[in-house]
Amino acid sequence: ASGGEVHSPAQPWSHRGLFDALDHQSVRRGYEVYKQVCSACHSMQYIAYRNLVGVTHTEAEAKAEAEQITVKDGPDDTGNYYTRPGKLSDYFPSPYPNEEAARAANNGAYPPDLSYIVSARKGGEDYIFSLLTGYHDAPAGVVLREGQYFNPYFPGGAISMAQVLYNEVIEYEDGTPPTQSQLAKDVATFLKWTSEPEHDDRKQLLIKVIGILGFLTVISYYIKRHKWSSLK
Ligand code: HEM
Repeated sequence: ASGGEVHSPAQPWSHRGLFDALDHQSVRRGYEVYKQVCSACHSMQYIAYRNLVGVTHTEAEAKAEAEQITVKDGPDDTGNYYTRPGKLSDYFPSPYPNEEAARAANNGAYPPDLSYIVSARKGGEDYIFSLLTGYHDAPAGVVLREGQYFNPYFPGGAISMAQVLYNEVIEYEDGTPPTQSQLAKDVATFLKWTSEPEHDDRKQLLIKVIGILGFLTVISYYIKRHKWSSLK
């Protein structure tokens, strides 16, 4: 086996069904994983703190999250640049100033922006889960370069991201036991939400559309029977 691009098995996501919403507790825990682990190397430039409000956090909580970051702003009236605490309207911070710096810190590899990664990769959230839990020792015959690790789910098998999720690598606010698979599931659910923030609204609309179409079908059947009833 040369490894590489093993199909990611389908996991029993609670949001998988046609009418099933995302598990918002899981999305919130996934945010904790993103913030404490992934954000050290990955950016998420299309998600702002205000996007968390009503999804995973209250407005006050989201504000408190934003205030933990430092944002470069300016120029002010006197033409000066300055730093300030983050606001709800700020986007998640990037760990590196530019791609060159990101590559320099990661053996030449570029950690992609994670905002839309679930939509961008074949297998979606199943792939993210498998990738994060799928690290192995390289099988005989597979040669890895400096800074590469073996992961059969990554195309080619040699990935420049080390395993980052281990049992108890962080603690959850809600006390959920932070096993490796729990962490991977929650961060994959979080990334599903960032890729498809309209997910729940879309499914809710489907329920309404089916309801309305059903109602119209019944009505039209009744009208048809009524109009033609004299022609028995
Ligand atoms: C690549 C997720 C943490 C460095 C990736 C990819 C994903 C991902 C989905 C893309 C794989 C592909 O192209 O198909 C995550 C998640 C993390 C996390 C969810 C947190 C749980 C980290 C950390 C680092 C890192 C902490 C740095 C220490 C990289 C690098 C790549 C990468 C360098 C590019 C790999 C390559 O192209 O060979 N990550 N990552 N990641 N990640 Fe992470």
